[in-house]
Amino acid sequence: MEVIVCENAEKASALSARLVKNKIKKQPDLVLGLATGSTPLQLYKQLVDLIDSENLSVKEITTFNLDEYVGVAATHPGSYQTYMKKNLFEALNLREDQWHIPNGECQDVSQECQHYENLIDAKGPIQLQILGIGRDGHIGFNEPGSSFGSRTRLKTLTEETRQDNALLFSSTEEIPRHVITMGIQTIMDSEEIVLLAFGAQKADAVAAFIEGPVSASVPASILQFHPRVKVFLDPQAAAKLSHLDYYQEVFAQKPSWQMLEFES
Ligand code: F6R
Repeated sequence: MEVIVCENAEKASALSARLVKNKIKKQPDLVLGLATGSTPLQLYKQLVDLIDSENLSVKEITTFNLDEYVGVAATHPGSYQTYMKKNLFEALNLREDQWHIPNGECQDVSQECQHYENLIDAKGPIQLQILGIGRDGHIGFNEPGSSFGSRTRLKTLTEETRQDNALLFSSTEEIPRHVITMGIQTIMDSEEIVLLAFGAQKADAVAAFIEGPVSASVPASILQFHPRVKVFLDPQAAAKLSHLDYYQEVFAQKPSWQMLEFES
C-alpha cells in the first residue's frame, strides 16, 4: 500500500485528480469505479477542470458507482445518482450508457445486485476504483462484519453511518437504512485502487486499516492484500499512523519515472 500524505485535502485531491486524468489520457476507454460522499468532491471538481483544460475526450470511458440507497428516488436530492450527475456526469457530458449506479428503486433487490455484478463482468474489470472510507472503516457500504468474499448486495447502514449521511435528508426518519453496495470482493477485483481520507474524524479508521490487523471488523483492512493501492491523506487523517515518517520519505524519494502518473 502506498501512503501519500499531502499538505491538505485540496492538494491531495489535486494529486489524485492528476492521476485519474493521466489514466484517462493513456487509456481513453478506462473503466472507472466511483465513490460518493464529501471526500471525493474536490477530486471530481479538479478532474473536470483538468479534462476541460486539456480538451481530453471522455466519450469512451465507462463508470461504475459503488452504491446507492434503496427506496430513495433517483431524482431525490440525497440520492447518489443526483450527486453523481451534479458533481461529475453533467460536467463531463457523459451519456447515460456510460455510467452505472445500482437502481435503488428496483422491485427485486437480489436481481438488481446480480444484474449489477453481470454488468461489471461484461464491461469490466474496473481498472481504477476510487474509494472513501467511513469512520468505522467501511468501504463502499460494507460495514464492519461484512464478508471479505462479498459481492454486490443489500446492506443495512449502521446508525453512525446514517448520521454521517444525514445532510440531504429532511428528518432522521428519512435517512435511508438500506443500500445496494458493491461487495468487498467486487472492490478487490479492481485492478487499481485510490482511497482518499480527510479530517481528524477519519484518523482512527485510517491507522486501523493501514497498520492494524486484517479483520472484517475494519473492512478496509483487506486492502492490505491488494497489490495496487494508493492512499491519499491530509495530515489530520494521517495523524495516528505509526510509520508516517517512512511513508513521507518513500514518496519524497520516488524515482522520477514513478512520478509520471502524477504529472500535470
Ligand atoms: C460512498 C461510499 C462510502 C463513503 C464513506 C465516506 O459512495 O461508498 O464508503 O466513501 O462513507 O464518506 P464521506 O466522504 O462523506 O466521509
